Amino acid sequence: MTITPPSYPTARLRRTRQSSAIRSLVRENTLTVDDLIWPVFIRDGEGVEEPIPSMPGVMRRSVDKIVEAAREAADLGIPVICLFPYTDPSLKTEDCAEAWNPENLSNRATRAIKAAVPEIAVMTDVALDPYNINGHDGFVVDGKILNDETVEALVKQALSQAEAGADIIGPSDMMDGRIGAIRTALEAQGHQNTMLLSYAAKYASAFYGPFRDAVGASGALKGDKSTYQMDPANSDEALRLVARDIDEGADMVMVKPGMPYLDICRRVKDRFGVPTYAYQVSGEYAMIQGAAQNGWIDGEKAMFESLMAFKRAGCDGILTYFAPAVARKLSQR
Ligand code: PBG
Repeated sequence: MTITPPSYPTARLRRTRQSSAIRSLVRENTLTVDDLIWPVFIRDGEGVEEPIPSMPGVMRRSVDKIVEAAREAADLGIPVICLFPYTDPSLKTEDCAEAWNPENLSNRATRAIKAAVPEIAVMTDVALDPYNINGHDGFVVDGKILNDETVEALVKQALSQAEAGADIIGPSDMMDGRIGAIRTALEAQGHQNTMLLSYAAKYASAFYGPFRDAVGASGALKGDKSTYQMDPANSDEALRLVARDIDEGADMVMVKPGMPYLDICRRVKDRFGVPTYAYQVSGEYAMIQGAAQNGWIDGEKAMFESLMAFKRAGCDGILTYFAPAVARKLSQR
């Protein structure tokens, strides 16, 4: 017997797209201000807001201006601000001692924010690159990046950040064993509540270019970071890194960059079910802003679409330079 199919489609998936009300009803994911971590750049001085040409709309701010920005962010409901220092070239050395100076820019900014805006969580970055004369995240000897010696320095850096009051410490250096070493040191020094958000799956990416301008590391960097950051061809390795970092004491994990690595976000979330974040990095931001400024795409729509993609991929939140712009728009809806 032959079955004649109906002359009309039985499943009309367009039915649930017919109006804004129904689209809201069936929407699977949402983006809210709770999902945002705002990365900011700090520099010396007072009253300084200095634009970064390769990141239109992003500024380096002096500590007093960072505090104002943190106040605004907190008022918008942004839960976390993440600090990156632009270090004066005169403070960059081979031994990177500025990294654990209690009075370095990052630590001063942390204390100032915690005093003035206690409700926003402060996240800091652990890696030697802002302080390293050769721009690498670890010590360099004979062209090689030393692992274990670097970890010792990272522990000192992390402890100085915890002492300054950082709520969340983000090791972005990709050395082996640093999460365990930092966790042990934090426990030993009475910082049981300091969280570790591990840059667990961080790829050796071309999308970090504008960031290196922003922190003044572009000129300094000799060679590339492919002996410690991940090969963009790998996926299973990201799962091994995440498993290891959770095991060593990470509270949360990150995938970085973001958009080109959404498949990794999804695998990590599905496999481990831990708080998972993506970093929409400087190059991703610059691409959207650059195209928007040229009138090639609608910048605001691209911003929202790109951030929703992270939620759809399973992320619990996103580090994004768009954070204040998105938060402002969300508050108007
Ligand atoms: C370095 C660090 C980098 C970023 C955050 N921490 C750059 C790098 O690894 O060279 C990049 C962030 C961005 O591009 O927005 N420890």
